Amino acid sequence: MKMIIANWKMHLGIRESLAHARGVLRALVGNDVQPTVVVCPSFTALSEVRKVLVRTHVQLGAQTMGPERFGAFTGDVSVAQLDDVGCQYVIIGHSERRAMAGETDALVNQKMNLVSQTSITPILCVGESRDVREQGKAETHVIAQLRAALKNVHIGTSSALVIAYEPVWAIGSGVQPTPAEVVAMHTAIRAAVVEGIGVRNDQLSVVYGGSVTGENAYQYLREPMIDGVLVGSASIKLQEFSAIITAGRDVMVAQRV
Ligand code: PGA
Repeated sequence: MKMIIANWKMHLGIRESLAHARGVLRALVGNDVQPTVVVCPSFTALSEVRKVLVRTHVQLGAQTMGPERFGAFTGDVSVAQLDDVGCQYVIIGHSERRAMAGETDALVNQKMNLVSQTSITPILCVGESRDVREQGKAETHVIAQLRAALKNVHIGTSSALVIAYEPVWAIGSGVQPTPAEVVAMHTAIRAAVVEGIGVRNDQLSVVYGGSVTGENAYQYLREPMIDGVLVGSASIKLQEFSAIITAGRDVMVAQRV
């Protein structure tokens, strides 16, 4: 199974989000083999998009969540509220939130702890900066981020965990690591997570994100170590996103996964 995650970021209003959700459904019509597709609209559109996706195979995700259970936290949205609106996934620790909203490893860990106590699946983002990669420390950095995010987190035996490897320098830049570089990192991530927190291999998906397009998606998706892609800019262009879904489907048909 391959997973295609759309991160619409702060781009679409309710009406546009609904049109996009319907477009994604159209891209899936008439094919038996389908990748798992998750769309992550803004908070304001979650409820309406949910109505379009209910009883379909497309899953709903949020782009972030607050680090507390409930209380006087003006502007935050709790994981229980995401559950209430019908989210099945939530992105945690996206590099834009780490860089722009000051999210630290400790905060990411707090969120991971909260979400692991619910039935919502976390999509935990990790990735190195260009500097770190140039110093040859990308793997050490990513594994340290993972250890911090997953400290004392217990993923139940019937729950799932998605790790998104998103090198910061590849996000929105049009520059990507090679599939071989991604495979090497995913291999290290999988080993660290399976050994470190004892999740089973089949509970874990490791996806790649950073300037994924309709044109380059196939070269990543065809790698068995790459379970899917997390798509930003290309996910708000329907034709482009449909091409990414098609790439996922083509790989699944060719490899019978
Ligand atoms: P991008 O964004 O596809 O625009 O590079 C990916 C992401 O931020 O998750």
